[in-house]
Amino acid sequence: MARKKIALIGAGNIGGTLAHLAALKGLGDIVLFDVVEGIPQGKALDLSQCGAVEGFDAKITGSNDYADIAGADVIIVTAGVARKPGMSRDDLLGINLKVMKAVGEGIAANAPDAFVICITNPLDAMVWALREFSGLPHNKVVGMAGVLDSSRFNHFLAEEFQVSAKDVTSFVLGGHGDTMVPVIEYSTVAGIPVPDLIKQGRSTQERIDAIVQRTRSGGGEIVALLKTGSAFYAPATSAIAMAEAYLGDKKRLLPCAANLTGQYGVDNLYVGVPVIIGKDGVEQVIEIELNEEAKGNLQVSVDAVKELLDACKAIDPSLA
Ligand code: LMR
Repeated sequence: MARKKIALIGAGNIGGTLAHLAALKGLGDIVLFDVVEGIPQGKALDLSQCGAVEGFDAKITGSNDYADIAGADVIIVTAGVARKPGMSRDDLLGINLKVMKAVGEGIAANAPDAFVICITNPLDAMVWALREFSGLPHNKVVGMAGVLDSSRFNHFLAEEFQVSAKDVTSFVLGGHGDTMVPVIEYSTVAGIPVPDLIKQGRSTQERIDAIVQRTRSGGGEIVALLKTGSAFYAPATSAIAMAEAYLGDKKRLLPCAANLTGQYGVDNLYVGVPVIIGKDGVEQVIEIELNEEAKGNLQVSVDAVKELLDACKAIDPSLA
């Protein structure tokens, strides 16, 4: 069977981590692309030299030419600028929108059959713009956000209940910004709903509310610590889980920024919702029953994403 090809657009911290994980997991051959000369080539060479120790034989190449992503099965986009302390993700909109135009056109010309996972911020607007610029089918373009946000929520809940993070499941819905919606009612520890654990006295509503808030500002907490950039290990791990779901036709149910066509009362907009990922990309959007508070919070988040799309359209009228 022919090896799969993974193209990584952007050879910064996340791009390098993605390439390392993809090689370690044997996902296929890897092309690391960046517009900056030398960086993708240097990282590709460094990563290739891990193979002799780790025992992987993925062909890892660096490139500044979109032609080298031709025929990619999966493309993960991290290109663009990361925020610095004091900035919101939305502050990156203008600069990263231009990057998405170049990336979208490069994908359309060279790898129109790929499954594309976008990580660039502000995520929900950038994945929408990338889809518009590339013209790929909506089910083949998806944003990595909910997996990361839910993973943060799971981690904090695992610490709170002093259990393995493996036993915690949760959903974070909505946009990947300050308005994201961690849903306590759908968060469980080994199947036991968090509200029941609160009733049992294993935590308090106040402590869980603080965890919800920490999850919402989870990216900013890391930006404030790193000072020179944003998180990269957990974002890369999250995107690789999505790539594996697609490549292995795993039908995983993951929260991702997906295009909605009426679900949750939302149309023609990318926002974080539970979806099934398999060989056809986003195969299904799953609608879950939300209580009035979560519904209201999701609406606030959707409205925030809509504002970002309006800003994109104002900057680039071809998107209107
Ligand atoms: C994250 O959540 O870690 C990323 O979106 C990066 C950021 O700027 O917070």
